[in-house]
Amino acid sequence: MKRVVAPSGTRKITRRDSLKLAGAAAAGMPMAAIAQRASAQATADRPEGGAGDRRFPDGFYWGTATSAYQIEGAWNEDGKGASIWDTFAHTPGKIANGDTGDVANDHYHRYKEDVALMKDIGVKAYRFSISWPRIFPEGTGRPNEKGIDFYNRLVDELKSADIEPFATLYHWDLPQALQDKYGGWRSREIPEAFGDYAGYVAGKLSDRARHFFTINEFSSFVEMGYGGFQTNINGKIVSFEAAPGLHLERAEVNQIKHHTVIAHGLAVEAVRAMGKPGTKVGPAEVIQAAVPLIEAPRHIKAAEAATREANAAFLTVMLEGKYTDAYLAGLGADAPKFTEEELRIIASPVDFIGINVYKPARYVLATDEAPGWRVVPFARSHPKMFNRWLTLAPEVIYWAPKITQSLWGAKEIFITENGCASDDVITEDGMVYDTDRIMFLRAFLTQLQRATADGVPVRGYFQWSSMDNFEWIEGFGNRFGLIHVNFETQKRTPKASAHWFREAAMRNAVA
Ligand code: FCB
Repeated sequence: MKRVVAPSGTRKITRRDSLKLAGAAAAGMPMAAIAQRASAQATADRPEGGAGDRRFPDGFYWGTATSAYQIEGAWNEDGKGASIWDTFAHTPGKIANGDTGDVANDHYHRYKEDVALMKDIGVKAYRFSISWPRIFPEGTGRPNEKGIDFYNRLVDELKSADIEPFATLYHWDLPQALQDKYGGWRSREIPEAFGDYAGYVAGKLSDRARHFFTINEFSSFVEMGYGGFQTNINGKIVSFEAAPGLHLERAEVNQIKHHTVIAHGLAVEAVRAMGKPGTKVGPAEVIQAAVPLIEAPRHIKAAEAATREANAAFLTVMLEGKYTDAYLAGLGADAPKFTEEELRIIASPVDFIGINVYKPARYVLATDEAPGWRVVPFARSHPKMFNRWLTLAPEVIYWAPKITQSLWGAKEIFITENGCASDDVITEDGMVYDTDRIMFLRAFLTQLQRATADGVPVRGYFQWSSMDNFEWIEGFGNRFGLIHVNFETQKRTPKASAHWFREAAMRNAVA
């Protein structure tokens, strides 16, 4: 690490300043305004480029992310069809507290306020998802004009706020009609329908939205929705379910994985065919990143090889055009059935690779025996965030893009999600002091900057999430937002982390 010398003219907030701020609080000034004033003051005091070599590249997209079902509400308005998440959340016992996304953040009606708030907190790019059943209530066939109109209005609002729109085409809300008719992703019909839908949306929005993500977290929705996913957290087996809540045999789950990557490839082709010239498209997968426990060349090589295998069903086949031998051999009779033509579609060239990065899939060390690495378990005392699954390991956001680059030579990389929930409370002064989230962001973004400084082409970062929202089976109990939402009144309150984000985005640097 290079030593960074504070440039002359940099002024810290002194004890006198903080006394002044405390005085303002005593004078009844709201804490949010005070924090804003302090941050504006600190920025004004700094010479340009004050962060020295801790800056991100020029034009770096400081973004936030959400998804349709988690924020929109309006679940049956303006001709929208039901999605598998509507059905799942309406099934008693599936979601904590019986919460549903029927209203969620009511973003469908409040999108203008939400865009204005994002602008206030320094957001330069926004990754949202499009609800497939809002556009095609039956999954295929006749589009619903009012559905696409909503996204037209949202994109216009973003453009006029100088926020770059990034649209995800599938964030888990399959039209229920396709589940009923074909059994959902079990069917080879779904990739075809998805391609048609993707082309239609690109044709409508790509005059203003220049970036499209095909599918969000392939592995998560397949394993949780169709595989009855279970994992060991601190010695306890915990189940994570998602819509449609099926528990199929492995062979069928593996075939579904194959269908999702075909869908991705068909969508890439459709966006290219129907989008305006220059429209960019790529996946948004939660990369299973192996992190070298020790930073020595042989362990780094081992981490690359382990990452390639761990992503065999998704990123590796999309970017290499074949399933690895080890993947197919390991599955044996449960391996997916596929054709050469399908592999060609799956590997349709992408413009960028989007990766969601929360935690390492594993730490590894090199070994002399095949396959050349071994997994090192997390220590029992390894720190975790509010969610017990979220092991704190900020270096993963350095290694994940770095390994993505060395394995697949990505032209551009986006961190499509990163973030944490915290046990937020509104204090008497009306603020949320989410110190753990700020610690998390600072640590992760410092590591991400390290990747960009190494020349890894990371073009943007999307913090999950702009605002608290419906966190799948956890309902509204897991707060991931930079902006706090009171789900009874729909009041939005930027948290301390939003002020932190704004400062970092404004300076294009972490510190
Ligand atoms: C990711 C999902 C996103 C949100 C975050 C916390 O796996 O893509 O919708 O739930 O986790």
